[in-house]
Amino acid sequence: MRDYRIAVIPGDGIGNEVVPEAIRVLDAAAELTASYRFRYEHFPWGCEYYLKHGAMMAADGLETLRRFDAIFFGAVGFPNVPDHVSLRGLRLPICQGFEQYVCYRPSVLLPGVKSPLAGRRPGEIDFVVVRENTEGEYAGAGGRSHRGLPIEVAVETAIFTRKGVERVVRYAFQLARSRRRRLVSATKSNAQQHAMTLWDEVVEAVSRDFADVATERVLIDALAARFVLAPESLDVVVASNLFGDILTDLGAAICGSMGLAPSGNINPEREYPSMFEPVHGSAPDIVGKGIANPVAQIASGAMMLEFLGETKGAELVSGAVRGVLGEGRALTPDLGGSARTSQVTDAVLAHMRSVAR
Ligand SMILES: NC(=O)c1ccc[n+]([C@@H]2O[C@H](COP(=O)([O-])OP(=O)(O)OC[C@H]3O[C@@H](n4cnc5c(N)ncnc54)[C@H](O)[C@@H]3O)[C@@H](O)[C@H]2O)c1
Repeated sequence: MRDYRIAVIPGDGIGNEVVPEAIRVLDAAAELTASYRFRYEHFPWGCEYYLKHGAMMAADGLETLRRFDAIFFGAVGFPNVPDHVSLRGLRLPICQGFEQYVCYRPSVLLPGVKSPLAGRRPGEIDFVVVRENTEGEYAGAGGRSHRGLPIEVAVETAIFTRKGVERVVRYAFQLARSRRRRLVSATKSNAQQHAMTLWDEVVEAVSRDFADVATERVLIDALAARFVLAPESLDVVVASNLFGDILTDLGAAICGSMGLAPSGNINPEREYPSMFEPVHGSAPDIVGKGIANPVAQIASGAMMLEFLGETKGAELVSGAVRGVLGEGRALTPDLGGSARTSQVTDAVLAHMRSVAR
């Protein structure tokens, strides 16, 4: 029986609704596989915390989190706090502070789920976006001067380092090698002549170590169109922080719903804890209605199990999610159903128990 310490940060909005549901599933998987135990510590960080304390997390938050085996995160951001304050105060410091330089985001069209793209069948869309997660356009460099005056100026500087690009690109190539050996690099070096040419050069150099992986360089605008027109042609996509952020919402949308897409912020060297969360945000438009789809959070939990080496538990959870979606009986409104959040979880639990019996 392996013991793991898990830091739980539900955050804001529907994060508080879907995280407890996913924990029910993770605990059931622990019980059914009898191979691990999760010891949780909950942290109330987020916008409510900010309104009370003037900070999104405790001052020693990173030090505290460092001691955990993984972080299970909901979503951050709510209309009562400016988005740049909430994101920069909680999620980004964790990703950057813990060198979680790989944001791993699979897009898979699952059985029973309808893509908004005409004629796509389950299994036809199956790719992973590897998003650079610590620098690039979200590095946080820049400033504003002459606030409020007609001469006001704002500068947001993207920062690309050779080391930062190389480590994420190498990870993406390795991943492609374990999949269908095709890698697309998202670029914009026609217009962004400094950072993106460095990006291209690094991709080119690393590709020489992966001669068995077919590599393509695609401009981000054309790639956005290709996500819609030919998603079946994609296997692994490596992208900068901003490009990857945008592409993965598109990836979630073409696979049926924002409510299905999981995500991992990974420190591959395991020097720091990695963090698992859905791609979606706090969804203020549906908060409190009990209809948030818990699948993205549950699938993020399965990804966390996989990362921790609890393959049996991960497969049990992923199999149950596929089973429930395939049956089509317990679907939340985002998937055209009328089930409530907890009913989807109940169906996932029932499926797990029937398989494990
Ligand atoms: N990683 C994060 O924490 C993260 C990511 C994106 C946005 N945000 C924040 O979340 C807030 C809302 O942002 P947004 O509206 O642009 O994006 P969002 O992902 O919260 O919502 C977009 C749309 O998807 C729907 N949706 C999202 N998750 C769903 C689920 N599980 N089930 C059913 N429907 C779901 C919402 O109802 C909404 O219509 C903002 O404050 C933003 O900054 C946080």
